[in-house]
Amino acid sequence: MRIDILSVVPDLLHSPLQHSIMKRAQQKGLLEVQVHDLRDFGLGKHRQIDDYQFGGGAGMVMMVEPLSNCIESLKAERTYDEIIYMTPDGQRLNQSISNQLSLKGNLMLLCGHYKGIDERIREHYITMDISIGDYVLSGGELAAAVVVDSIGRLLPGVLNDETSALFDSFQDDLLAPPVYTRPAKFKDWEVPSVLLSGHDAKIEEWRYEQSLKRTEERRPDLLERQ
Ligand code: ADE
Repeated sequence: MRIDILSVVPDLLHSPLQHSIMKRAQQKGLLEVQVHDLRDFGLGKHRQIDDYQFGGGAGMVMMVEPLSNCIESLKAERTYDEIIYMTPDGQRLNQSISNQLSLKGNLMLLCGHYKGIDERIREHYITMDISIGDYVLSGGELAAAVVVDSIGRLLPGVLNDETSALFDSFQDDLLAPPVYTRPAKFKDWEVPSVLLSGHDAKIEEWRYEQSLKRTEERRPDLLERQ
């Protein structure tokens, strides 16, 4: 999968995508992420990318021309399955959206800044708007990093134990069960004995019950959706 990210602060994106699982996904050639500096498409000698909004009001708006030029230059090279705008007024990201996006080939993510982007970009290029939650970030970069991470770990071959993503929280609209590692006893805190029993069916049943219990206690809304 290839993901192109358009940003005015590309440095914000470099570190989150260069470690751990995202690093491995790229090293294995399963994920290619290219970050494009919108400033390179800025107008005039100051490489202008934003301007005052028509009708007045505080806050700058990202201009249509630099954004269009950048998007067109990328579209000339490949076809995009989705051109996604990161925005608090978008569809709220969830596991189901990440699963669907992980099946695509080429994605473009546009990070907004300031007051937003000229609406004509949304009308003519954007195919999907994503929000990562009901709060406003300074820009779409951190949100884009969240999207890339949540998709990247789902690509076949990225995780060592491929099945492990299947048991993530939210995969069945259930939260993941508790996990433990050695030692089996610390102070007088013991690991549930079923996990040490070696009885696979019982362990699976225990995990399912724990998932259900945890979901009922913490996120009953997930159960109502089923
Ligand atoms: N840009 C600013 N806030 C955002 C949010 N909550 N989700 C996605 N993009 C954003």
